[in-house]
Amino acid sequence: MAHICVCTRFRPLNSKIDDESICISRSDSQSFTLKDEKDEQYVFSFDKVFYEDSEQADVYEFLARPIVRDAVNSINGTIITYGQTGAGKTYTMEGGNILETDDRKKGLLPRVVDELFEAINLCGDTTTYKIKLSMVEIYMERVRDLFDLSKDNIQIKEQKGHGILLSGVTEMLISDGEEALKFLSSGIANRAVGETQMNMASSRSHCIYIFTVQKELTNEKRVSTGKLVLVDLAGSEKVEKTGAEGRVLEEAKTINKSLSALGNVINALTSSPHGKANHIPYRDSKLTRILQDALGGSSHTALLCCCSPSLCNSSESLSTLRFGARAKHIKASLRVSCKEDMSDKNQETSLSPNDMKLKVFDPHQRILKKLKEKLDAETLNLIEEEFVVDGLLSDPSLSEEVKSNHEGVFMAPETISAWKEASNKLVETIVELEKDNRTLKDECEVMKVEYDTMKNVNRFLKAKLRKAYAYLLMGWGFCLLGFMCLYLCMIVSCIL
Ligand SMILES: Nc1ncnc2c1ncn2[C@@H]1O[C@H](COP(=O)(O)OP(=O)(O)OP(=O)(O)O)[C@@H](O)[C@H]1O
Ligand SMILES: [Mg+2]
Repeated sequence: MAHICVCTRFRPLNSKIDDESICISRSDSQSFTLKDEKDEQYVFSFDKVFYEDSEQADVYEFLARPIVRDAVNSINGTIITYGQTGAGKTYTMEGGNILETDDRKKGLLPRVVDELFEAINLCGDTTTYKIKLSMVEIYMERVRDLFDLSKDNIQIKEQKGHGILLSGVTEMLISDGEEALKFLSSGIANRAVGETQMNMASSRSHCIYIFTVQKELTNEKRVSTGKLVLVDLAGSEKVEKTGAEGRVLEEAKTINKSLSALGNVINALTSSPHGKANHIPYRDSKLTRILQDALGGSSHTALLCCCSPSLCNSSESLSTLRFGARAKHIKASLRVSCKEDMSDKNQETSLSPNDMKLKVFDPHQRILKKLKEKLDAETLNLIEEEFVVDGLLSDPSLSEEVKSNHEGVFMAPETISAWKEASNKLVETIVELEKDNRTLKDECEVMKVEYDTMKNVNRFLKAKLRKAYAYLLMGWGFCLLGFMCLYLCMIVSCIL
């Protein structure tokens, strides 16, 4: 079970609405202290804190990129921006403007589009992708289709195997990044935006961008779908501060009510030790109903709490940060939605992360199995040892630890290509080792022949030596006998 990734972003001071004094002091990239107007201090820690000088690209890299990559691998993901009005939620999501050309200001949405098309352009011929985009807003508790304003009360339905669905919502098929941005821009133009004292262009609705990434493995007749949902919430506001009245006041009340419903769902989800309270009030608002999958744990979810760094907004920042701190305790167990056979729509199945890992690892396991069949145990052990040293294979003795460390970690395209690379390297090394092995065997044969020849020469020399010894001994014997005869003759001649 993975936790929801919760980050905080402080926008730069805005001279029109902020006072000069700052309410936060940085500790590191994950923690800081917030001081309120009563001089009370609160320490907060999140997965990452983006301070006033943070770049749009930093937020994308940390918070969104892993989720986008998962969506390409058919794991649902949700990114939510939450916070006080004017705190930078829409700026983070869209950038200065959705068609922004300044790379520093480009928001999450155009970066998501870039990454999606980059990832699918990298995939081989055996995989085809279809990307569809829907955009809705929840305005005054009604779900409106931003691509077709005549659909102004879309119903939310729950379907087994698909989760929460928006009935009859327009889905635009997008074929490239440029087209996606055009659609996004036209949808955004239809959003309800109003001017308040806190924000010249305040979002008066919750906006939901849904990218459906359909992946088809042509050889294996398998279709899987990843849904990537980006949610730009309307801001919580103190009506006395925003100067809301009339319609704007009604909007503010509805926004605050649905954000309270969101808070209640998070409280219910985190109030029991196992995250399973008896009743989770998803149905209390359209927002919580639509976010049911994201909050209920079947999606890879990231929450960005946007705050003002100014002391005059510290009480709103405090409540945003408390919301984020609470959400950190929600746990998610991810699933990949997959159809085994395109011809049979009823075969839709949900795979757990571990199943998914097995599926992704499958081709490599098959290669390894084949190699195991071909090679003898000793060569295989040598190869395995070398790869463990290189870090390309995990030490089998550590497998349990590795499994637990990787719980909730999924195969991004890089990981898959890294594994492909590793298995290619494995095959190359095996071929090289087999070649070395053959050369060594040939050398051994030559050495064996040389050894046999030397052995024969040795044997021959030894025989010769033995013979020479014998002759030498015989010579010595004869000499000795001759001397003795001579000596005897001399003695006999002396006596006579
Ligand atoms: N990180 C940032 N860098 C530069 N300007 C920012 C940043 N964040 C927000 N702003 C500016 O602050 C103003 C308010 O931001 P934005 O509209 O994103 O707020 P919001 O949280 O969406 O508010 P609302 O809830 O009212 O819609 C905008 O003019 C925006 O350009
Ligand atoms: Mg906004």
